[in-house]
Amino acid sequence: MERTFVAIKPDGVKRGLIGRIIQRFEDKSYKIVAIKMMNVSAELAAKHYEEHFGKPFYPELIDFITSGPIVAMAVEGNNAIKGVRHIVGSTKPDEADVGSIRADYSSYSTMNLVHASDCPESAKRELGLYFSEEEYCPDYKTMFEIILDNHGGIR
Ligand code: CMP
Repeated sequence: MERTFVAIKPDGVKRGLIGRIIQRFEDKSYKIVAIKMMNVSAELAAKHYEEHFGKPFYPELIDFITSGPIVAMAVEGNNAIKGVRHIVGSTKPDEADVGSIRADYSSYSTMNLVHASDCPESAKRELGLYFSEEEYCPDYKTMFEIILDNHGGIR
């Protein structure tokens, strides 16, 4: 079981895609264990994207992520880090697999709707930046978990 960090970026919020984006993760059996709408400060944006500092697209990236509210989430599930990235699609929407969020809803690399952690280390770091321990609500059972329980844990 893995936890990953997902953010619906300002374009996804402003375009009214919050529900449709979250639906894709829930449909896949992933569980939202923390969620909030928030504005990202310049300081938080710089920490989040520190690995991209100095790259040509960095200023645009920071301007964009601080341009309006995001929806931050902790998403949990079986191999969730890789699986969520697959649902989100490649950074460049014109190279993303059809059926992924970016392929279906975006045609820009900066306005690409969703951020998702790329590896376990990033997931841990990014979740730590956006959520405190008290903000997690992992104790409810999803329909998928109930079905798994009924099948004796077969996956
Ligand atoms: P994200 O998953 O949030 O992580 C880094 C972001 O940088 C990426 O999505 C894009 O929004 C943005 N970006 C813009 N241009 C590029 C690029 N050429 N290569 C990688 N990331 C880019």
